[in-house]
Amino acid sequence: MVENYMVCNCKQVSYADIANALDTHKNFENVLDAFEDVQKITHCSTGCGGCHQKVLDIISQIMMGH
Ligand code: FES
Repeated sequence: MVENYMVCNCKQVSYADIANALDTHKNFENVLDAFEDVQKITHCSTGCGGCHQKVLDIISQIMMGH
């Protein structure tokens, strides 16, 4: 089972939502680029912004696994 938990409470974006959004992203070298894509798709980190670092960490983690 895929690890899943809520990452962005404001926009109700979970770990799985971020992982799925990343699947559509083909450039696994630029975390900030990937973040922008993920944000466009999931709207994570567009509320209070408190999850920004968490989202970045998760994206780098997933990207390192590729
Ligand atoms: S928790 Fe993600 S924007 Fe507030």
